[in-house]
Amino acid sequence: MQAQLQAVLAKAAAELPAVLLRPELEAAKARYVGPNGEFTALMKQMGAVPKEERPAVGKLINEAKGRLQVLLDEALARIAAAELAAQLGPTIDPTLPSPDPGPGTRHPLTLVREEMCRILRKVGFSVADGPEVESEYYCFDALSTPADHPARDEKDTFYLPADARFGNVSKKDPAERYLLRTHTSSVQIRTMLRGEPPIRIVSPGRVYRRDTTDATHSANFHQLECLYVDRNVTVRDLKALLDHIFAALLGKDTRTRFRPHYFGYTEPSFEVDLAAAHLPRVNKPWIEIGGCGMVDPEVFAAVGYDPERWTGYAFGMGLERLAMLLYGIDDIRYFYQNDARFLRQFA
Ligand code: DAH
Repeated sequence: MQAQLQAVLAKAAAELPAVLLRPELEAAKARYVGPNGEFTALMKQMGAVPKEERPAVGKLINEAKGRLQVLLDEALARIAAAELAAQLGPTIDPTLPSPDPGPGTRHPLTLVREEMCRILRKVGFSVADGPEVESEYYCFDALSTPADHPARDEKDTFYLPADARFGNVSKKDPAERYLLRTHTSSVQIRTMLRGEPPIRIVSPGRVYRRDTTDATHSANFHQLECLYVDRNVTVRDLKALLDHIFAALLGKDTRTRFRPHYFGYTEPSFEVDLAAAHLPRVNKPWIEIGGCGMVDPEVFAAVGYDPERWTGYAFGMGLERLAMLLYGIDDIRYFYQNDARFLRQFA
């Protein structure tokens, strides 16, 4: 019996280390310890062993069984390690310099923002900035947005806790609340309070709204705001500038149209639509792109400009929407996922 056990073990020890695949291992296991296995057959002989020899033989069998199990376990571990290595690909040395560090690419929103600012700089606008944490005054009150306007609702605007302190944003009134700006129009007020006309600014930046994220909405997105204040500014100037910048960004076949609308800070006010059938994935004749209008005299009064003397236009638009049109992107969430496969497509 002992010799037979040794023989089976020796065979297993020779065979199992060469097994490289799971099905082969399963087959080998069946050959040794399956119902018709060689080892199983030896164990069945126990019944024929004289009673006094049984303890000794039993011990031998148990030892042999343990050694066989070790051989099977080792084979399985080796196969599992080989499978994992195959999934991980070639081994790398992470201490070596990257073989292809690559220059990286600019984000599509950065590209559109920079291109818009370049177009506007060429016609005399300069870039202005404002804080993303704002007070109600700059975001709403000075822009003639009444206290009961839906945009001010807690459901739509992120307010900061009443005891929050932001040293770099001054409040006009201690009772005012801080919020995350819902539009870049707040920069209009900051710019006008800082100096005298003429003013020509473009202000790109992040804005926040309590929106549920889907293919076209994000609680955090980007806008681009423009303000022009001078003498004798007309709606014609506004339309001409918008026609110019959209043609420059999206191609000369792009057309714009105004639809009457209401904004508290402009009078008259319009929504701006684009027709750009030449762009990829544009399947609507007109696409809404932003809001605009002639600066309301009340807003001039709020910042201490003489409404009799000064006229102006303002507009604001979403940068994501522009980038989606320009590049044929159909889901706003791509912008924020930092997936290199998406980002690498932009020069
Ligand atoms: N602030 C508006 C918005 O977020 C867009 C806008 C409308 C900006 C009219 C303006 C304007 O400057 O004059 O929807």
